[in-house]
Amino acid sequence: MPRTDLLPATDEGLARAAALLRAGQLVAFATETVYGLGADATDADAVAGIYAAKGRPSFNPLIVHVPDLAAAERVAVFDARARALAAAFWPGPLTLVLPLRDGAGIAPGVTAGLDTVAIRVPAPATARDLLARTRRPVAAPSANPSGRISPTRAAHVLEGLDGRIAAVLEGGDCPVGVESTILSLAGAPGDAPRLLRPGGIPREALEAHLGEVESGADAKATPTSPGQLLSHYAPRARLRLSAPRAEAGEVYLAFGPAPGGWTLSTAADPAEAAAALFQTLRDMDAAGIARIAVAPIPDAGLGLAINDRLRRAAAPRDPGDAEAD
Ligand code: TXA
Ligand code: MG
Repeated sequence: MPRTDLLPATDEGLARAAALLRAGQLVAFATETVYGLGADATDADAVAGIYAAKGRPSFNPLIVHVPDLAAAERVAVFDARARALAAAFWPGPLTLVLPLRDGAGIAPGVTAGLDTVAIRVPAPATARDLLARTRRPVAAPSANPSGRISPTRAAHVLEGLDGRIAAVLEGGDCPVGVESTILSLAGAPGDAPRLLRPGGIPREALEAHLGEVESGADAKATPTSPGQLLSHYAPRARLRLSAPRAEAGEVYLAFGPAPGGWTLSTAADPAEAAAALFQTLRDMDAAGIARIAVAPIPDAGLGLAINDRLRRAAAPRDPGDAEAD
């Protein structure tokens, strides 16, 4: 494949990106969470290309991106509760798992053969403009090689995927910095909604809206347990979590003031820490740091998503011991 084009977020750049997607090519684009590696979700070959470009080891289902609720309703079946969630949180970092609509035309590689689909409307106007111009639902996992840290800047996408995808649409830094919250409404009738992955919408915000939210995989999603796989967001450095201080040979990553040292947020603000998380891990790798002791981060607000990503980043690294995305 020729070199990957870096397209500006201009009318021309957007038109080119949409044309590439419609032609079955892979185009990375910025969302509020991380950069996504987009492909036409109705094109089986394009979807297979996502797995090939990322080196993603297994057919873990992908999130479908659409510009608005009307487009989402052409892909998934919404009930009143799903519509209310969409009204409250879209556009934004909430992914809903819903029954797949018959005849939606989604390639089986997107849903890994499940009868449900994960779908969201991303926040940035540029992303929604791209999706509207593409006029197809777009499957998009994070735009990083499998097992590596998710990209929050166009340059990160090129670091990992240059030459393996057609284009990156420039979209600046991703303000949320961790992937979307995944909520399943596809359980049995009467089941509480299930939080499959903590992310950019805090659990507390969902609970304020819905009342009780369960955690963990859908019973019917096993044995693949999508969303529950131990995915690595792996820096080169080894991580030790919830550390009160660094030990010999470690560098400390604080959550709060750290004059002259590393911190995720001087103000100990979970949203600021989430936005900084992946960039900081990249910077610490670039600085050649081999062992990081990470401060405890409260499991509240975006802290839940940060701790989830840190646990994955700290997980054992033997190839093949876990799924990666
Ligand atoms: O923030 C995000 O969500 C980013 C940006 C690019 O939008 N996208 C992202 O996509 O993280 P991806 O494809 O890496 O996330 C897929 C996750 C997987 O963990 C998968 O298990 C879960 O969504 N998932 C997808 N379809 C599902 C389904 N039908 N049932 C349960 N989980 C599903
Ligand atoms: Mg990912």
